[in-house]
Amino acid sequence: MNKITIAIDGFSSTGKSTVAKQLAKHLGYVYVDSGAMYRAVTFYAMQNGLISKDDFNVEALIFQLEKITISFKFNESLGFAEVYLNGENIEKQIRTLEVSSFVSKVAAISEVRQKLVEQQQKMGLDKGVVMDGRDIGTVVFKDAELKLFMLASAEKRAIRRFDELIERGDKVLYEDVLHNVVERDHIDSTREDSPLVKADDAIEIDNTDMTLEEQFDKILKLAKMTIEGLK
Ligand code: CDP
Ligand code: CDP
Repeated sequence: MNKITIAIDGFSSTGKSTVAKQLAKHLGYVYVDSGAMYRAVTFYAMQNGLISKDDFNVEALIFQLEKITISFKFNESLGFAEVYLNGENIEKQIRTLEVSSFVSKVAAISEVRQKLVEQQQKMGLDKGVVMDGRDIGTVVFKDAELKLFMLASAEKRAIRRFDELIERGDKVLYEDVLHNVVERDHIDSTREDSPLVKADDAIEIDNTDMTLEEQFDKILKLAKMTIEGLK
């Protein structure tokens, strides 16, 4: 069967990673969470005192990029690959609101993007990959056979992310989560290098009022049609 590349871009908490994991499982494809890679670099910067609320030593981070190795290892019981920073599993640590508050600043640095995009493109060489992020259809896999662009209202997205963080046991305020979602939308969409924009050939999906099931059904149909169309 023809294997395709599926690129899923869009705003935070639009269900990109959920649907990407479902698709990968269903089609027997590899799922790659490109956002986890930007979060991993951010976590490194935090651990090494390079970024804080008041300060960001961009030069030092760029200088230390060669010391950062990001890898993924499939976790059978979770059903997806977890992210590792220099050999350490950091899957849980990178999902905090604190990491979210710095990540868009780190992701705006061209040197960081260059390093991660190169690794992402290598992971997609054999096709059969579903990758989600902000620049997958516009930069990483410009030739992807299926491109999706996901959006939903900021309030709905903030509720989804807030519920997730509370369930994890993180003490966060809804207002702070909403602020982070809106701030990241702005930084990600207005940065100079690879801003978050819909690729001309991407299919837009607004899931403000869609359940996870409805969203998956719709996207699986699109994927099957694309694969069929190549035969
Ligand atoms: O899960 P959520 O949508 O909140 O974020 P994520 O996918 O984990 O991405 C975190 C951040 O990494 C984004 O807000 C972007 O700043 C950056 N990112 C990016 O610039 N390019 C990508 N391909 C993926 C993520
Ligand atoms: O990857 P991204 O940040 O775009 O979103 P996600 O992590 O897949 O989804 C964020 C949260 O929203 C998860 O808890 C999803 O279950 C939830 N969600 C939902 O309830 N309904 C949707 N249509 C999409 C996402």
